[in-house]
Amino acid sequence: MKIVVVGAQWGDEGKGKMVDWMADSAEIVVRFSGGANAGHTVIADGKTYKLHLVPSGIVAPGKVAVLGSGMVIDPAALFDELDQLEKDGVNWKGRVWVSDRAHLVLPTYKALDQEMETQSRVPIGTTGRGIGITYALKAHRDGVRVGDLFVDSCWDHLRPAEKEFLAPFRERLHPLVIDLVAFMRQNSQKNILFEGAQGVLLDLDYGTYPFVSSGYSAAGGASLGGGVGPRHLDKVFGVFKAYSTRVGNGPFPTEFKEGSVLGERLRLVGQEYGVTTGRPRRTGYLDLVALRSACWTNSLDGLIVTKMDVYDDFDEIQVCTAYRIRGRLVEDFPGTVADLETAEPVIRSFPGWKTPLGSVRRWEDLPQKARDYLSFIEEYSQTPISVVSVGPDRDQTLVRKSPWTRS
Ligand code: IMP
Repeated sequence: MKIVVVGAQWGDEGKGKMVDWMADSAEIVVRFSGGANAGHTVIADGKTYKLHLVPSGIVAPGKVAVLGSGMVIDPAALFDELDQLEKDGVNWKGRVWVSDRAHLVLPTYKALDQEMETQSRVPIGTTGRGIGITYALKAHRDGVRVGDLFVDSCWDHLRPAEKEFLAPFRERLHPLVIDLVAFMRQNSQKNILFEGAQGVLLDLDYGTYPFVSSGYSAAGGASLGGGVGPRHLDKVFGVFKAYSTRVGNGPFPTEFKEGSVLGERLRLVGQEYGVTTGRPRRTGYLDLVALRSACWTNSLDGLIVTKMDVYDDFDEIQVCTAYRIRGRLVEDFPGTVADLETAEPVIRSFPGWKTPLGSVRRWEDLPQKARDYLSFIEEYSQTPISVVSVGPDRDQTLVRKSPWTRS
């Protein structure tokens, strides 16, 4: 089977934990988009792993991890991450591969990324990792691909400073490079997990443009960046948090007002600080209008909700079920920032369950109030919740229906 996992909000939904958990039944995990702007946390056997480029499936022993064609890779960051994994006891050799079609992030791109942000008409709050510039040069057909390092005519075209930076990585990268299309065709009978980065609302096309990242975070990117045609993908799952967060600038209709006690509490209990930049994340309650839109644009077969336990002590839990925009009731996620910025959320409240969920392992054992909250989300989004995560550890996962079930 081939399963795609995407973030259904603005990134940071807990995809790292869920990909690591789902990798149990996969042989190969392919990251199909993004670069070192992403930050995925995996906690396994009491150890915490912070990943930016390497697919989260790497932590599970024996799994093959592939950096796909849709990625943009800073080779210095990649080898720092691989060296750190080795120090942490993860034996990655022989099971990490890099697509020859992935693009390389060069040091000048990072500097340019930050410089352009300061001059931009609308600063978006980029992570400054050179992601936007690399994708822009790719579209401009002036990028440097991983495979170019090993083709003399391409290497010869590089500027002296580029060669100087890349030379030490040529030798280290060489044994890892694959033709992803051929690799996927040869492995077509295996269970493969396609791991997205960021979240649907940061997708270049479906996100809150221009406050988006530059890759394809939506599920459609799994095919383009993962080396398979769209009909090879069997199922798509969307990971979302029981509430919402966003880092960087851009509209966020359900954001708690600045100084809100609930917003600060959510940040503290949920440890909502960026893995890549350490920036405090903006916090808000769940936006069902946005979630339902993500279900549609990604053909989600099922939802995976994370961080339910963060709400354990809350008296009341709110969700947004529509927006009021210039007096009009809107139930579809608007395509413009102007509409989103004026959107006043229509709120529905649920009583908190006031019970620790961390040790619950079965849907039936969830408090009724927690089930009511989740059932409402399912009903509204018309998408079943397949998995509920009630804590950071692998085993703090409640499976209603395994994502690897075919029907
Ligand atoms: P860039 O991709 O680094 O240029 O950042 C563009 C926008 O996407 C900024 O608002 C970032 O904060 C946001 N962003 C990029 N990657 C992630 C991520 O992995 N999680 C959450 N936000 C992200």
